[in-house]
Amino acid sequence: MIKASKIFKTYHNGIIDVPVLKGIDFEMKKGDFIALTGKSGAGKSTLLYQLGLLDEFDSGELFIDGINTHSMTSSEKTQFRLNNLGYVFQDYALLPELSASENIMVPLLMQGVPTKEAYEIAVNTLEKVGLKSKADNLPSQLSGGEQQRVSVARAIANEPKILFADEPTSNLDTFNSKIVLDLFKELNKKGQTILLITHEIEYTKYANKVISMTDGKTNK
Ligand SMILES: Nc1ncnc2c1ncn2[C@@H]1O[C@H](COP(=O)(O)OP(=O)(O)OP(=O)(O)O)[C@@H](O)[C@H]1O
Ligand SMILES: [Mg+2]
Repeated sequence: MIKASKIFKTYHNGIIDVPVLKGIDFEMKKGDFIALTGKSGAGKSTLLYQLGLLDEFDSGELFIDGINTHSMTSSEKTQFRLNNLGYVFQDYALLPELSASENIMVPLLMQGVPTKEAYEIAVNTLEKVGLKSKADNLPSQLSGGEQQRVSVARAIANEPKILFADEPTSNLDTFNSKIVLDLFKELNKKGQTILLITHEIEYTKYANKVISMTDGKTNK
């Protein structure tokens, strides 16, 4: 599903170069649930951005679903993301003026799904995360855990090949974290491929494979 080799990425802050990824090899198979851990600043989010086609690395190779990403133009990458990849971030990133169902509909409409169908998909996906009754609520009318479940629903509504989650539980209490991670586990059982970044060692038990990062490298 994903095969990356020798990925290097350096950020440039004015005259200062910050090397962040120092030759990453990474492989993820269909149906994997991988937990990526490591200290703050190790480069976890940066790696997720590269693997999720949200950023461009300096050198190395990345194959997703058999496609060499070097051969894709930036608009092809955007289209590929919309059709194949889902993202959950720590701050939910919901649009405050749209209801739960409308938030889920946005990327579907961008993909060209007709409105009525997008609404039906949104409500069905909310049902999967246990929030069907809250379809018309605004984010401000939902708890943190519920907002994160809406953001998971948005990420999985188009049945992405890969779900990327960057510290999705960092703003949640233990109770709501467990609800979100149990949901991931359930999705994975049904075949969803997942890459989860987490600080919490105890949450790595949800994954079938754990990769830790130190200072821009993965530990073997
Ligand atoms: N846009 C940027 N410009 C310059 N430096 C950056 C940028 N983004 C990240 N960095 C630096 O890259 C390093 C790795 O950051 P990254 O966000 O990938 O770490 P992380 O492992 O996700 O950490 P955390 O657990 O705190 O989220 C850090 O030293 C950070 O300061
Ligand atoms: Mg991070």
